[in-house]
Amino acid sequence: MERPAVGELVPPERTLMGPGPSEVHPRVRRAMSTPLVGHLDPSFLDLMNDVQELLRYTFRTDNEWTIPISGTGSAAMEAAIANLTEPGDTVVVPTNGYFGGRMASMVRRAGGDVVEVDAPWGAPLDPDDVRTVFSNHDPDLLGFVHAETSTGTLQTNVPELTEIAHANDALVIADAVTSLGGVEFRVDDWGIDAAYSATQKCLSAPPGASPLTLSDRAMAKVTNRDARVRSWYLDLSELADYWGEERSYHHTAPITNIYALREALRLVAEEGIEERWERHERVAGALRAGVEAMGLDIASESWLPSLNAVRLPEGVDDTAVIDHLLDEYGVEVASGLGDFAGEILRIGCMGYSARPENVLFVLSGLGDALENDGVDADAGLAAAREQL
Ligand SMILES: Cc1ncc(COP(=O)(O)O)c(C=O)c1O
Repeated sequence: MERPAVGELVPPERTLMGPGPSEVHPRVRRAMSTPLVGHLDPSFLDLMNDVQELLRYTFRTDNEWTIPISGTGSAAMEAAIANLTEPGDTVVVPTNGYFGGRMASMVRRAGGDVVEVDAPWGAPLDPDDVRTVFSNHDPDLLGFVHAETSTGTLQTNVPELTEIAHANDALVIADAVTSLGGVEFRVDDWGIDAAYSATQKCLSAPPGASPLTLSDRAMAKVTNRDARVRSWYLDLSELADYWGEERSYHHTAPITNIYALREALRLVAEEGIEERWERHERVAGALRAGVEAMGLDIASESWLPSLNAVRLPEGVDDTAVIDHLLDEYGVEVASGLGDFAGEILRIGCMGYSARPENVLFVLSGLGDALENDGVDADAGLAAAREQL
């Protein structure tokens, strides 16, 4: 067999304004190029404490059980769902976006029964609908997506949702993949029992070590399970050996990803979590003002600063716009999924990508791509500049 003649890695320059990954902060990239130590090295054990403390700050929680799960956001999602769902449990999941569907799929694999609470794509769940589902089904768990990346929808009324669940002795799992570190999210104040996220969105680190937090009450359910968790890798009672007091081997931690996460979280703490939420709202607000001044609409009823669902004019081919932005500007944005397929562009504004120059650049490219579709690019740029 011939030796493969594969050239040096030279990724193209991109401005990442899609649904994730966002651009990685230069300090995070530097942290990733520092030398490896072992995952049981005393220095790494200290670093694990740093990461846990910084994660608690970012999640707004005192939960002891706050750790990064090895893998992407779906790994942390599956860790939450697989550990908290016992076979036969009834779990409420939303139908208003793509990731509620993924929750349902994970619940079924964990042996749970799914009950859906409906809302249209682009709308948040209505607490009254959640109340009705609770009175009809007596669920054990409520899952919801705080920031639905497929529709750019922010779930409002979270404390009301958790109250409904707790009044029925159910636990609450929140998907904060596209909100953690970018959009107001408060685990303790809002009464959330378990929340998971990812690093490649508002935290601006590469994917690979994904935040998870569980309250003592949630962890008590995990440790008192009758049936063992079906996944060995994600079983939190096994992972406790490594992330708990003993710090003994469970699996080799993704050391470089943990370095990256630590630096990304240090950036959150330096900026201040509330200031960071405010920056996302301001910079994404300029993006929103820009697209609206161009004559385009936000497709979601409950705007999510980190993910802007921009409705395209009738008859415009979304892939042509996406290709134009990538080929001519090196800007990544994404198409719609599910009910929104072919109708919207998903423009992210997350973490290190949430910068004024990125917003002005994406608006220029968008105006250019839609030049012949009645879009007023100059008005868009002027409106964004005014907000910034
Ligand atoms: C809301 C939401 N949940 C879960 C996931 C899954 O995360 P990952 O793709 O990192 O596995 C994503 C990914 O985009 C997401 O947006």
